[in-house]
Parts: sequence; C-alpha cells; structure tokens
Amino acid sequence: MVKGKFITFEGCEGSGKSTQIRLLSEYLDKAGIPYIVTREPGGSPIAEQLRKIILDGKNMEMCDECEALLYAAARFQHLKDIVVPALEDGKLVICDRYVDSSLAYQGVARGLGTDFVESINSRALEEFQPDLTVFLNIPPDAAFNRKHGADKNDRMEKQGLDFHMRVYEGYLSLLPKYPRICAVECGGSKYETSEKIISLLKSKGIIV
Ligand code: TYD
Repeated sequence: MVKGKFITFEGCEGSGKSTQIRLLSEYLDKAGIPYIVTREPGGSPIAEQLRKIILDGKNMEMCDECEALLYAAARFQHLKDIVVPALEDGKLVICDRYVDSSLAYQGVARGLGTDFVESINSRALEEFQPDLTVFLNIPPDAAFNRKHGADKNDRMEKQGLDFHMRVYEGYLSLLPKYPRICAVECGGSKYETSEKIISLLKSKGIIV
C-alpha cells in the first residue's frame, strides 16, 4: 500500500532542477516533512551502472532504441530499489527526471515517437504515475547560458542546441496530454521560483 507522494522535476539542461530541489529540501527540513531526493538515470547501484553506459561520451554509436530501453531499464530498477520502498515508508519522494524525460528526449527529440516510448514505459506511466510533475519552463538557450555551457564528456549534453530545442518543444507538447505536469515559469530569481513551487505543492495537497 503506497502512503507517500511521488513528485518529479523536469526541464532542459541547466533549467535549475538541482537548485530548486535543494531549496525545496531546505523548506521540507524546516517543516519537518519526511522526504527523499533521488534522480534518474541512476539513484541505485544497478541503475547507476546503467547510467554510466548511457551517458558515456565514448558510446556515440548507441542507437536510439537502445538508449530509450536503457533509460527504461534504469527506471524500473530505481523504482523497485528506491522509490517504492520510500513511498511505502510514507515519505515524499522527489525525483530529478522521470518518464517525461524519456518522452521529450527519446520520443520527440530523437524522433522515436511518443507511442514507442509510452509503450516501453507503460508500467511506469500506469502503476507508478507521479502525483505531480514540476516542469521548469525555460528554453534551452537561456538555460545553457545560465549553466555556462555543456559538459563535453556527457553524451546527451554534447547534442547541439537544435536537439535541446526539440527537447523543450517535446516537453511543451506533453502539457495538454498529462495534466499532472505543471509548468513553472522561471524568469525571476531562484528564490521566487522556489516560492512558486512550494505554493504549487501546497495547492495540490502534496504538502500542507
Ligand atoms: P544528468 O547529468 O543527470 O543531467 P541533468 O542534470 O540535466 O538532469 O544527465 C541526465 C541526462 O539524461 C540528461 O541529458 C537528460 C537525459 N535523459 C534522457 O534523455 N531520457 C531519460 O529518460 C532521462 C531520465 C534522462
């Protein structure tokens, strides 16, 4: 029986997910709300091994289907190892990226199609659906400038700006289909964005 709530953060590279998750954690610490922070791909020993293969800059010949299946494989291992036990413990689970990353990156930007990506992730979408997904809405050109460029050893970050523009458009296309995804505008300071996220979590009954 699942008792905790499951929330995920999504956005383009450099959109500020890590900063926002840190600010939310500080708020939850002060409020005394039990939670865990985890991330995809990775987050548990087997899933971290898969992460290394997926993101290794040397694996440039990996085909798109293999990439999508490895992300899905890492996802299910991480669900079983980390997410489900924490939810059963009644904790709030905060996950940095989840199935919507696969839909935007592999489904749209790689061009595999969201039907294919939904099919290999159907169990995650049906049985382990997040209660809420926070999408940090900032286009990749603005986000990259904030992050001071890409990591040259990271296979995904090595993709050009046009790839990341397609990722962004992919995210926007998910919004009408998945009402659990809430876009948070991040034009203001990181503290203003954090306040918006906390208000959103309160308004959706995720935290009190
Ligand atoms: P990471 O270093 O964690 O990036 P970020 O800090 O931007 O989250 O690397 C994760 C990379 O994997 C990132 O480029 C997004 C990509 N990704 C997918 O393409 N599909 C997925 O399903 C997931 C979870 C991540």
